[in-house]
Amino acid sequence: MQNDQPQTIQRADYQPLSWTVDTVDLHFALDAGATVVTNRMRCVRNPDAAPGPIRLWGEAMERLELTVDGAQPVALRETGALLEIDAAGESVMVEVRTRVDPRANTTLSGLYLSSGGFFTQCEAEGFRRITWFPDRPDVMARYTVTLEADREACPVLLSNGNLVGQGELPNGRHYAKWEDPFPKPSYLFALVAARLVALERKVRTLSGREVLLQVWVEEGNLDRCEHAMEALVNSMRWDEETFGLELDLDRFMIVAVADFNMGAMENKGLNIFNTKFVLAKPDTATDVDYENVESVVAHEYFHNWTGNRVTCRDWFQLTLKEGLTVFRDQQFSADMLARAAGPEGAASARAVKRIDDVRVLRAAQFPEDGGPMAHPIRPDSYQEINNFYTATVYEKGAEVIRMLHTLLGQEGFRNGMDLYFSYFDGQAVTCDDFVEVMSEANNGFDLDQFMRWYSQAGTPRVKASGTWNAADGCYALTLSQHTPATPGQPDKLPLVIPVAVGLIGPDGRDLPLRLEGETQAGATTRVLKLTEEAQVFRFIGLAAEPVPSLLRGFSAPVILELDEDDARLAFRMAHDADPFNRWDAAQRYAERVVLAMAGGASAGLPQAFVNAFRALLADTRLDPAFRAQALALPAEPYLLERMSPADPGALRTALIAVMGALGRELAGDWLRVVDGMQVSGPYRYHPGDAGKRALVNLALRYLCAGGQPSGLALAEARFAAATNMTERFGALAALVQSSSPARGAALLAFHARYRNDALVLDKWFALQAGAWRWEEGGEPALDRVRVLLSDPAFSLANPNKVYALLGTYFRANPGEFHLADGSGYAFWADQVIALDARNPQVAARMARALENWRHYAPALQARIRPQLERVLASPGLSPDVAEIVGKALQ
Ligand code: ARG
Ligand code: ZN
Repeated sequence: MQNDQPQTIQRADYQPLSWTVDTVDLHFALDAGATVVTNRMRCVRNPDAAPGPIRLWGEAMERLELTVDGAQPVALRETGALLEIDAAGESVMVEVRTRVDPRANTTLSGLYLSSGGFFTQCEAEGFRRITWFPDRPDVMARYTVTLEADREACPVLLSNGNLVGQGELPNGRHYAKWEDPFPKPSYLFALVAARLVALERKVRTLSGREVLLQVWVEEGNLDRCEHAMEALVNSMRWDEETFGLELDLDRFMIVAVADFNMGAMENKGLNIFNTKFVLAKPDTATDVDYENVESVVAHEYFHNWTGNRVTCRDWFQLTLKEGLTVFRDQQFSADMLARAAGPEGAASARAVKRIDDVRVLRAAQFPEDGGPMAHPIRPDSYQEINNFYTATVYEKGAEVIRMLHTLLGQEGFRNGMDLYFSYFDGQAVTCDDFVEVMSEANNGFDLDQFMRWYSQAGTPRVKASGTWNAADGCYALTLSQHTPATPGQPDKLPLVIPVAVGLIGPDGRDLPLRLEGETQAGATTRVLKLTEEAQVFRFIGLAAEPVPSLLRGFSAPVILELDEDDARLAFRMAHDADPFNRWDAAQRYAERVVLAMAGGASAGLPQAFVNAFRALLADTRLDPAFRAQALALPAEPYLLERMSPADPGALRTALIAVMGALGRELAGDWLRVVDGMQVSGPYRYHPGDAGKRALVNLALRYLCAGGQPSGLALAEARFAAATNMTERFGALAALVQSSSPARGAALLAFHARYRNDALVLDKWFALQAGAWRWEEGGEPALDRVRVLLSDPAFSLANPNKVYALLGTYFRANPGEFHLADGSGYAFWADQVIALDARNPQVAARMARALENWRHYAPALQARIRPQLERVLASPGLSPDVAEIVGKALQ
């Protein structure tokens, strides 16, 4: 299609449309193979735009009829997906009738089928696959929707807003009519017509209105909705209490669908979710699943204000809603965890959540920032917008909002949010609008330089060094910053970087901080503002040389470069008062040890490292969830990114050695942990219980990695006796990631128990795709993945299956994917090409697994390049995959 001449859209080219739409009346005659959509829209001239034709976009449908004010249009030009119609006057009625084929729609964008039901996904540009429309977020209209379908196959008919009518029709059909009182962009349109049942609850909002909440699922899943409902109620409360934001509709619906490209979608009043982020019960969902359900429910609910009431002017502004909403869901989860943990455990619970979020950022966003797809949180150009729902836009975007929150403080941030809604409610706006309003609400707080976070790509490096002057008790901390070049951005300017700092005294306690020029010492952690290329901060009044603890709480999304020897890392592991930095010290130490081993250092573990690990493990004052985080090695993709050149084989060998050695050397300690961590009573999703289960599961992982017979026996016993999925899957994972002869039988038993459960089978696929080779002559994961591809439960048509099997293999198992003979790469190309023919969005996500190929050793690069080229040359390649592979090869 467009692989020779990819179309690039530029942010700078934004122009308002000459005509927008103010009301839309849609009628759907739903039929699996031929749905007829009648769209009556009132197009209105835009006084703020240059005169021009009405512009409508459309693709993948058949146009049956188009009239303007009831007559054939006088002039109509069609170029590809764009239709231009000349019209006179201030407003006209355009009526367009199209036929679409949901059954043939394998892209899962637009209107499609899943287990016999009809579902839609319109963000970013799916609405134009349903009807011709000015399908851009800056066109906000009021929608009325009538759905008509077979009563038997589709007893439930849902769309946005309020139900205003329903009834019977001839031939076993029925209809429902919905009206959404709020103007919205087309990407927030949704319909569902399916055989579903709902868990319902009525709650009162802050202002006392009663609203109906529903979670719609297939009948057999009704016993897995309680947690999502609970999360929804908690999200509503939290947004009322934290931001004064209330639900604006009488009814709020969540619908679960098994075939879905992404996590979930915030359609107005009718959120559509991947089943993975709705369904949870103790026997099938792990603690992590419970946590994810809670945060995705919250994320989509929060979009109702940050995204729906105030939306994006154009897709370059995506982080306006996504970065802000991720930040909000992160804060919500931290508050929920802290509340459940009680006053004693609150700080640790928050730190654990922060660690989780930073792990994601480092494993997914840092590599993106260092590769050919690097882009600012607000990109300047794209070929395919669906490729820009990235870790940069979402997670780094959330970090940028967090820095604003740090700089302005909780109250200043809230004032900014209030002003944002008072100015922009009902509008489609830009990131500049957001940042300007934050400044205005805070006495003109200068955020000009801060705006560079929106325009510069790449992960900044902050270098720190300290000099101690014993004579005058002064510690001079020099901080400097540098952001590496990224594609299209050779030179970067200094950013505003908030660096939270503490100084630790020789006894391990934090010292009160006093900067030169201040009359007295204050808090023990404070935020320094690094705005220049280099700055010196002089701390005075110190009795002895301090140990700096920098970037506490991960106060900015940067890589901190600080020379610390092993002893200092061990000291901070033991004493840093900031739990995030305590964790980070352990990560840095582990990274150093693993990478040294991967680089050919001696095979044994340094004793000091083992001791430091043991000390953390044995410190029972530390919350188990925190210990589980601190004792887990850094993520493999992150470690690979830190190697140059990246050598996945050597890294894997080192990881196996380190895991095994820690398992053996700390065997007694791990066993004691397992013994002492029993959770009593029936399963409940609670951070205290979850922390214990996480630490036990980690202990089993190390024990099994170390080949400890006692550990293997323990894992087998726990697998057999488990009463919930967290324990069952934890034990199974420990067995599979080991050389235990019980692996195969355990996998079979697990499969037998859950053979009819799609979401649990995803775990079963992922576990095998992610398996390491623990013994000489062990089965390569590639062989297993090939076999599983033809498993009856596997399907390339279901994104969750693809992500579980292929996504895990390509992205989470580098040691088995980057095979020296290149067979992993040839397999990758085959799968990307096969997937692209049916679902370009999913194919593009898989394609991204090799975008950082230039980081790898030359021998691997030589094997990767021909496969990238083969994909790029593949006939009919989608613009989605063409952009990824094209940029990789540039
Ligand atoms: N707005 C959704 C969310 O973050 C994501 C939808 C993205 N969909 C897509 N096809 N690009 O909650
Ligand atoms: Zn979102």
